[in-house]
Amino acid sequence: MLPEQKFKYVPLLQGKSIAMIFEKRSTRTRMSTETGFSLLGGHPCFLTPQDIHLGINESTTDTARVLSGLADIVLARVYSHSSLELLDKDASIPIINGLSDLYHPVQILADLLTLQEHYGSLKGLTLAWIGDGNNVLHSFMMSLAKLGVNLKVATPKGYEPDANVTQEAQRLSKQFGTKLQFLTDPVEAARDSNVLVTDTWVSMGQEEEKKKRLKDFHGYQITMQAGSVAAPDWTFLHCLPRKAEEVDDEVFYSPRSLVFTEAENRKWTIMMSEPLSQKNALFTAMNRFI
Ligand code: CP
Ligand code: NVA
Repeated sequence: MLPEQKFKYVPLLQGKSIAMIFEKRSTRTRMSTETGFSLLGGHPCFLTPQDIHLGINESTTDTARVLSGLADIVLARVYSHSSLELLDKDASIPIINGLSDLYHPVQILADLLTLQEHYGSLKGLTLAWIGDGNNVLHSFMMSLAKLGVNLKVATPKGYEPDANVTQEAQRLSKQFGTKLQFLTDPVEAARDSNVLVTDTWVSMGQEEEKKKRLKDFHGYQITMQAGSVAAPDWTFLHCLPRKAEEVDDEVFYSPRSLVFTEAENRKWTIMMSEPLSQKNALFTAMNRFI
């Protein structure tokens, strides 16, 4: 967490605009981007499918070309990752992934910063993901090995992460010499791990599967009992929003839970793309890799 008074904001983005396209709801991604961009002197424009023509009577290609002339950067939260790729192909300005069905990279930047601040160093930590093989996990899988972090993944059968992402994560863990394990037993994942992480069992767009998912994820809730086999310094992360079935109140509101610092760090990480503080070194390193 960076106390604001210690932080000198340089209006690097004065005169610049960011087009923020949100096909899905958001609290953190929207607020961190709007407030972060404004703090650096820029103008954020929040656009939902209810407000703009995209997807109704204007194609993604045409929208990408129009926004390239009107804004300086786009952050897009989309259902399908292919929509982001299409935007990226047809826009001449940078596109930031504000969450897709495949990845959530801006979340992981905040998570890594939170762990860096808490533990002082990331190298050698073991992170246990206990839950759904989803977009947030995929972004961890693409980044942790490069930062020297071991990863244990426990998912119920049928909810494993994407096969291509898994293959790339296995390649990265070999290259960087980290451990990577795929399990179905949450207790084994938690054992000796420093960081226990989960996310919703029902991601946005999966609402119709809710009943089945709640049944299939039975036994995956993070509790103090799960923490009892973890490393003595264990902490808890969750990107939020959170439901009690994934993690009980005792863990969620305990001092081991870093979730509110993690949420605040969304703001610092979204805007640290220029050398404003010493944390930029970490950000630059992560940004190169994700
Ligand atoms: N964690 C996260 O991305 O939250 P929002 O959906 O509120 O943006
Ligand atoms: N996996 C969740 C993350 C929400 C921030 C989702 O995609 O809905």
